[in-house]
Order: sequence, then structure tokens, then C-alpha cells
Amino acid sequence: MEILILSDPEAVARRCADIVEAQMKTMPNSVLGLATGSSPIGLYEELIRRHSEYGLSFKDVTTFNLDEYIGIPADHSQSYRTFMNETFFKKVDIDPARTFVPDGMADNPLNVGPAYEEKIQAEGGIDLQVLGIGSDGHIGFNEPTSSLRSRTRVKTLTKQTLVDNSRFFAPDEFQPKLAITMGIATILEARRILLIATGEGKAEAVRDTVEGPLSAFVPASALQLHERATVVIDEAAASQLKLKDYYQFVGDLQDDLVKKHRPSDWISR
Ligand code: F6R
Repeated sequence: MEILILSDPEAVARRCADIVEAQMKTMPNSVLGLATGSSPIGLYEELIRRHSEYGLSFKDVTTFNLDEYIGIPADHSQSYRTFMNETFFKKVDIDPARTFVPDGMADNPLNVGPAYEEKIQAEGGIDLQVLGIGSDGHIGFNEPTSSLRSRTRVKTLTKQTLVDNSRFFAPDEFQPKLAITMGIATILEARRILLIATGEGKAEAVRDTVEGPLSAFVPASALQLHERATVVIDEAAASQLKLKDYYQFVGDLQDDLVKKHRPSDWISR
């Protein structure tokens, strides 16, 4: 795993945007896997800024979102479709018809997963998957004990996740307890993975992901099996890492190497 520790959430957002931009420059018709939640908001804002500032274009991109709640319509204020439309899609030149989010209102939610998997395959697979991480180590809505070979399917959210996400729902509003999520095996098939975490609340989950044993109890630890997973975190999220100094040392050396040999992958800091 590549661990990039940056000073603050703004620096994390810029570095993640560099990685996404480099991916799109290499392959303008990239298939991006996207996440909702607070972690990627800075990244989306930075991509929008680059779009309006110098025309970074998403017109040939296809996107697949990780997950969606079951039981609230796509146009509900708290659906992940609405989140993506409002936070990102409407603000860049992406073709809305090429943005995919699992259907949380399907007559039979059990059929959604296999169809979503097929669609991802039909588009050639995901080139770059963006992830956040739950305080319990979940990725997508793969909660602790999710099979490391899981595919897109229905999952029941844990009490912890429901509490974490309750801030988005009014006290008397229906808060879904079920979701459709890409599985861990689906995520691991992405050619490159970018996990974003900021703040002290994520420090334990980050430590267990990077330095803990590979375990279904910490779904994000499955990223240890991926060839090209990059974890981009701020100082607060890195605060519990035992080998923090080592990752910084590796990063500094790598930066020199990248600057020398792959300048196109090097945009800003
Ligand atoms: C969202 C998702 C979740 C979040 C995670 C962290 O699409 O798949 O795994 O990434 O719950 O959420 P935030 O970023 O709000 O802390």
C-alpha cells in the first residue's frame, strides 16, 4: 500500500485531485468508481475548480458509485444519487447518462447487484476507485464481517453506521437501514484504488486498515491485497500509525523518483 500523509484535509483533496487528473489525462474515457460522504467532498470541489479554471474535462468519463440506500427515491434529498448530482455531476461537463448509482428503489433489490456487476464489466471495469472509510473500517457499505469475496448486494447497516449517518436525517425522518453496495471483491477489481481519510475519528480505522491483520472484521484491510492502493490521509487520521515516519520517508523518496521519471503523474502538492 502507498500511504501519503499530508498536513490537512485541503492538501489531501489537492493530492487526490492530482491523482484523478493524472488518470484522466492518461485515459480521458476512464471509468471512475466514486464514493459519497464527507471524505471525498474536498476532492470533488477541487476537481470542479480545475474544471472551471482550466477546463479539466469529464465529458468522456463513466462513473459507478459504490452504494445507495434502499427505500428512498433517487430524488430524495439524502439519496446518494442526489448527493452526487448536487456535489459533483451538475458542476462539471460529465454526461449524466454515463453516471451510474445502484437503484435503491428497484422492485426486487436482490436483482440490482448482479446487474450492476454486469454493467461495470460491460464498461471495461473500473480504472480508479475512490473510497472513504467508516469509523468501523467499512468501505462502501461493506460492514465488519462482510465477505472479502463479496459482490454488489444488499447489506444491513450497523448501528454505528446508522449513528454516524443520522446527522444527515431529520430526527423524525425515515433513515434507511439497508443499502446496496459494491462488494469487497468488486472494489478489489478496480485497477487503482484511492482511499481518503481525514480527522482523528478515522485514525483507528486507518491504523487497522494499513497495519492490522487482514480481516473481514475490518473490511478496508482487504486493500492490503490490492496491487495499487493509495491511502491519502491527513496528520490527524495518521496519528495512530506505528510506521508513520517510514511512510513519510518512502513518500519523500518516491516524490523524487516520480518527478524524475513520470512528470505527467506529478502536478502539484
Ligand atoms: C459512501 C461510502 C461510505 C463512506 C464512509 C465514510 O459512498 O461508501 O463507505 O465512504 O461511510 O463516510 P464519511 O466520508 O462521511 O466519513
